[in-house]
Amino acid sequence: MAVVGVKGMNDILPAEIARWRAVESAFRVSMELGGFREVRTPHLEHTALFVRSIGESTDVVEKEMFSFPHGRDNLTLRPEGTAGAARAYVEHRIANNEPVTRWYYLGPMFRAETPQRGRYRQFHQAGAEILGDPGPACDAELIDGLVRFLQAIGVPRVTVHINSIGSGDTRTAYARALRDFLEGRASDLSEESRRRLATNPLRILDSKDPRDQAQLVHAPPVSAFMSDADRAHFEGVKAHLSALGTPFVVDPRLVRGLDYYTRTLFELKADKEELGAGNTIVGGGRYDRMIEELGGPSVPAIGFAAGVERLLIASELPVQGPRIDVFVAPIGEAAVGPALCLARDLRAAGSSAEVDARGAGMKSLLRRANNLGARFAVILGDQELAAGTVQLRDLDGRTQDAVPMADAARIVQERLGRSAS
Ligand code: HAM
Repeated sequence: MAVVGVKGMNDILPAEIARWRAVESAFRVSMELGGFREVRTPHLEHTALFVRSIGESTDVVEKEMFSFPHGRDNLTLRPEGTAGAARAYVEHRIANNEPVTRWYYLGPMFRAETPQRGRYRQFHQAGAEILGDPGPACDAELIDGLVRFLQAIGVPRVTVHINSIGSGDTRTAYARALRDFLEGRASDLSEESRRRLATNPLRILDSKDPRDQAQLVHAPPVSAFMSDADRAHFEGVKAHLSALGTPFVVDPRLVRGLDYYTRTLFELKADKEELGAGNTIVGGGRYDRMIEELGGPSVPAIGFAAGVERLLIASELPVQGPRIDVFVAPIGEAAVGPALCLARDLRAAGSSAEVDARGAGMKSLLRRANNLGARFAVILGDQELAAGTVQLRDLDGRTQDAVPMADAARIVQERLGRSAS
């Protein structure tokens, strides 16, 4: 039986790489323009890190982590990037050296979800975290930067959804009040929500089940539980977003699936049919208590992560794959050695070059050069070897001339419009 890959974990084949790279490099440019620096943390962490930060009663921790014992350790393939970044921030005592830290990351994450379009078991996130800045201006700046990034990669019709669930105390008081309210109506709730009533009542707020929706209509709003400071923070975020000219929708039901959030929550959605119901491409929010809870100093933080696969589904940016500059075609055994030397010279000068030394005939070699989209073909046969020349064929212009073999690498660079190096 032929081998197959793991369900929900995809190969990214060379034909798709140009689009991946275009999005990744646009993300890097956007983040670095905003003063963010790249951090790379391990793909494996201690399971306890995710349990403590993401929360025991979240879907991610309850049922989506790839965890396994190793020696005395319990390890988990990271389901997201924030916990690892926070752990590294605490472990390397970054707060001692800088009051504000701006980090970004790109890489694979792992969640044992049911695979479907836009939802995979290995997926990639492009994310960022700002640690050390408590103010609402920072929240608005981050959200606005994201909108600009999505514009830069051609994601159409993005909407920004925001909410605040208040600081940690507000969150706890609200969760209690919501539980009290819904407990009396438990028999009318969906099974999943009845279970969540005991473990994580806030998650009921974003249930799509009509039975839950009906009960939630009269539920107390979180705003009734917010402290003056929480309210001022949220008003600040909205005012700064308005000043930046970034439209947003306040969505009081937005709670997000990870337990570490405090105050600002946001999601960016793209109106793109191919994304289906899960049209959220970016999610994020504040997590002002996590660093302290992981044993670090009391440092407020906010961040986001975009799913790269979802960005690629949503992006309408035309991207051209790279072309090979020169296809080197030796005709006959004697030409193979000089062809290898010439390819090496071409590469040293900065031209990409592929040699086909399989001994194929001229016609089939030129067909391959065309199929590869090569810009030039260099043909070397016995006659050229004797004359110390090569035939340089321009595959776009369909012209051909003999040039000295020793000058071929420089001439190719010139004809490519690059200065010879
Ligand atoms: P999240 O909402 O769990 O947040 O994930 C962020 C984004 O990752 C989602 O909006 C989606 O685009 C993508 N994503 C999540 N799961 C999958 C999946 N199974 N397949 C494909 N894409 C997926 C976080 O992960 C937080 N760490 C974000 C954050 C950073 N909050 C603060 N800082």
